Amino acid sequence: MSPETDRPPSWQVCLACANELTERDPRSRCPTCGGLLEVTHRDPELTGDALLLRFTERRGAGPGATTSGVWRFREIVLPSAEEVVSHPEGNTPLLHREALEEWTGIGGILLKHEGHNPTGSFKDRGMTVGVTQAKRIGARAVACASTGNTSASLAAYAAQAGMPALVLVPAGNVASGKLAQSLAYGARTLLVRGGFDDCLRLVQEASERLGVYLLNSINPFRIEGQKTIVLELLQQLAWDPPDWIVLPAGNLGNTAAFGKALREARAWGLISRVPRIAAVQAAGAAPFARSFEEGFARRHRVDPDTVATAIRIGDPASHDRAVRTIRETDGVVLSVTDAQILEAKAAVDGCGVGCEPASAASVAGARELARRGTISRGARVVAVLTGHVLKDPGMLLDYHVDREPPPPGANRPVEIEADLRAVEQVLEGAKGRSPDGVNGER
Ligand SMILES: Cc1ncc(COP(=O)(O)O)c(C=O)c1O
Ligand SMILES: [Zn+2]
Repeated sequence: MSPETDRPPSWQVCLACANELTERDPRSRCPTCGGLLEVTHRDPELTGDALLLRFTERRGAGPGATTSGVWRFREIVLPSAEEVVSHPEGNTPLLHREALEEWTGIGGILLKHEGHNPTGSFKDRGMTVGVTQAKRIGARAVACASTGNTSASLAAYAAQAGMPALVLVPAGNVASGKLAQSLAYGARTLLVRGGFDDCLRLVQEASERLGVYLLNSINPFRIEGQKTIVLELLQQLAWDPPDWIVLPAGNLGNTAAFGKALREARAWGLISRVPRIAAVQAAGAAPFARSFEEGFARRHRVDPDTVATAIRIGDPASHDRAVRTIRETDGVVLSVTDAQILEAKAAVDGCGVGCEPASAASVAGARELARRGTISRGARVVAVLTGHVLKDPGMLLDYHVDREPPPPGANRPVEIEADLRAVEQVLEGAKGRSPDGVNGER
């Protein structure tokens, strides 16, 4: 990150062999060694203070892409972009709920709710940049493998851009809200008999052979957009960084993006201190957590299994760049069980916020780190909720309606005859129950 004024505004670099590609090169990996690519920007022309002022001015200014929570930061996302494909996206809330402070044991916990994005997950932040790039390079179609949210987001942004979209998802393992979105937005949707890792392998082959632009998070332009989760939360905190940022971790694109955002924010004078990152995996899909426990001595691959389908990934594609994030931020990686995830989800849902199962891994992880003493009671913590509560209605109905015996937070609906007496009886019954559980004890 040194001033190299003879450079174009941005270019791509292979993280493994330092090979350089132009900004508009459509290949998804390094053509020399197959390594992951990263977008590198020339140092911004403005000082840190001038950038901060510009970001502040754009916040809440008029309609259109300028106010987007992604394009507001365009100088450090994709400075050369002129016409962008923007919903707009971002501008997600930073929420405070006392009940969650109590539940996690962390006095200063806030929730960055990415479920408030246009398609209900953080993927929109990467997709606005990825589809903008696809248009700039004249791609004829776009494609991705997905556990559901990426496909929903790609489908929406491709529709907006007027481009055909192809999405590959694991048959039988995609939450119904996400599948419904891909179909509704008009993506050609392939249900692959295999897991996410199979889908990713297949779509990479297809993109190489069939000339379709790949928009998985190995695409470095997606990462540029996802950096803005961190930039926006820092802005919401008046650029006074929290002690910790906790996020769910699957394919590790977001973990990589968070590290890059913090590295650049510090180098370019936006912040003077870097928060620690905690990446939280589901115990049944925790190859990165296992690797962390061994000091990242080697990379693991597992056969994944978890209720949190969005992070049901056994061979995370962004492993190497996520290792860098954890090392540079003095971060930690941990895993939480499905039971912990569901308990955290019930706590998040129960205070009126709501999130999808994978998102609750961050809150479960924050609580676990507080229990271990890694995060102190007084720490300032931002836990990222990555997706909306309605993404996975099937899981919600199973938890609240079908499961026997009812789990501790189950809120059973009551079927009644259509008369007032029946309503009264239910209300009387509710009076006699504990105040924090509507239909059951906690
Ligand atoms: C809701 C949700 N949370 C977390 C993740 C994991 O993000 P990453 O794959 O970047 O680690 C995903 C990825 O699909 C997701 O959809
Ligand atoms: Zn290379």
